[in-house]
Amino acid sequence: MQTLLKSLQDVASSAIEVAFVEQFPEVYNDLPADITQSTQAHFGHYQCNTALKLAKKFKLKPRDIAQKIVDEMESSDLVDKLEIAGPGFINIHVKLEVINKQLNEMLTCDRLGIAFRGKQSKTIVEFSSPNIAKELHVGHLRSTIIGESLARLFEFLGHDVLRLNHVGDWGTQFGMLIAYLYEYQSEAFEKGVTLSDLMGWYKASKKQFDEDAAFKERAQKQVVALQGGDEKALATWKKICDISRLGFEEIYQLLDVSIEERGESFYNPMLQEIVSDLFAQGISEVSDGAQCVFMDGYETREKTPLPMIVRKADGGFNYSTTDLAALKQRIVEEKADRIIYVVDMGQRLHFQMVFSAAKLAKYLDPQKVRVDHVDFGVVLGEDGKKFKTRSGETVKLMDLLQEAISRAKVIMKERLPNENDQVIEESATILGINSVKYADLSCHRVKDYVFSYDRMLRFEGNTAAFLLYSYVRIQSIKRKVGKNIAHIQSELSVSHPSEIALGLHLRQFQEMLELVADEVIPHRICEYLFNLAEKFNHFFRDCHVQGSDEQDSRLLLCELTSQVLEKGLHILGLKTLDRM
Ligand code: ARG
Repeated sequence: MQTLLKSLQDVASSAIEVAFVEQFPEVYNDLPADITQSTQAHFGHYQCNTALKLAKKFKLKPRDIAQKIVDEMESSDLVDKLEIAGPGFINIHVKLEVINKQLNEMLTCDRLGIAFRGKQSKTIVEFSSPNIAKELHVGHLRSTIIGESLARLFEFLGHDVLRLNHVGDWGTQFGMLIAYLYEYQSEAFEKGVTLSDLMGWYKASKKQFDEDAAFKERAQKQVVALQGGDEKALATWKKICDISRLGFEEIYQLLDVSIEERGESFYNPMLQEIVSDLFAQGISEVSDGAQCVFMDGYETREKTPLPMIVRKADGGFNYSTTDLAALKQRIVEEKADRIIYVVDMGQRLHFQMVFSAAKLAKYLDPQKVRVDHVDFGVVLGEDGKKFKTRSGETVKLMDLLQEAISRAKVIMKERLPNENDQVIEESATILGINSVKYADLSCHRVKDYVFSYDRMLRFEGNTAAFLLYSYVRIQSIKRKVGKNIAHIQSELSVSHPSEIALGLHLRQFQEMLELVADEVIPHRICEYLFNLAEKFNHFFRDCHVQGSDEQDSRLLLCELTSQVLEKGLHILGLKTLDRM
């Protein structure tokens, strides 16, 4: 179903066209009409703001323009009432019967009224992307949570989604680690190793690499061996990757994340071709023995041109080379229409340079393929500084998640004193993980946010617990009435102002999702769901459900609210609970 916003845009646009095209043919420059949701009920449901813009251009009074638009719009079967407000805004009241008809359509459709147009757009969401054997930090957690949610959003909107984990599984660091393993840990490595062992050894190897020139040399030899396809080095590398993978998987399972691993090493066979091609196209040049791409607009702090190095003087390829190869592969072979990189803000310059170079090399045509670096801020501790453990170490993701679960357990035990341990365990896991995810998703991603267990586990305010509880409450309201919703013959029909406010908000679910997909701002889903819960509470405060004349219709309104809430939570990656 087309959203109300889009339908009103169409109506207003053709009204503007009819009213002004003869006198001002350039009116097309300001179409489609600018329609927004009203912020307050007494301003109507939507608002058209185009008259003000046109007034300036046509040198007419904005209210006169608004009047002409209103005259043309009045005949539409969508609108009930139009009012000109303030300097020339048009307040639009949609016909109640239109809202009701669309709400009923949402109810009878398992996609909540969102038409499935077939898999049209191929969308790649690259997220998580930790590094083998290196510390998995909260930045990777953010990427994982945001990326999973975006993937679910695009899937729900009917895109063909490919979720990719661009694992850092290649590079000079493996030389250090392999050399270190051979020299100090060969026995332990044979016996059985975990990701955290590897992380510890990685740190130790890095320290030795920086301090001990002879070790550095041996490490570099291992890099050459690995890149040259040496069997022993390759086998060790594979084993390191496998161990890391198990560690990552554990976290993905707990977070209910599914993702396909396609690490940096996948692109190795394509790197030389990229470097040669850039050189052949005259895009790169040799500078100090390295192959560099210099592009307008990129400078160092000292105002000298900033190169993007695609091949180092020692012959090694770079992080950027891999990203160029990956971008090209995703466009040419995967036939992506849209590519989303969920990576922390620290890599903004890197992605800008990669995208610019890809355009220069004609791998990327922005008219055909949309690329977004979906960046995000850092996670802060309650002291306002970068999130660390008390001893100043980076927080291990698993520890962080387990802590949230164990705090949720205390809460669940208190709320459900008669439940057995298994039920408590399961619901605490859901509440704990949901809370971590929601706290992350509910703030604007480009902002840093403070990680606080106490705050994220609260039952009041814009939290996972509040929404989960709202969901549980709606289920119990439905249960209490005790009527099988499938047997209700009559239709949903809103008429009380609190019902209308809730109904309109429900109908705007799709508008919100489309906006989030376009601007990639998942916090708007949270905001929407929080408002939904509040609007439901107002409705339930103002309107009797059980035993009222409108019982059946109101029960359907409860049902639709619960469906939209559940779907919204699902898109955020949250699971619901039956009791809490
Ligand atoms: N592995 C990288 C890191 O941990 C993130 C990879 C981001 N994706 C990319 N295509 N460069 O910093």
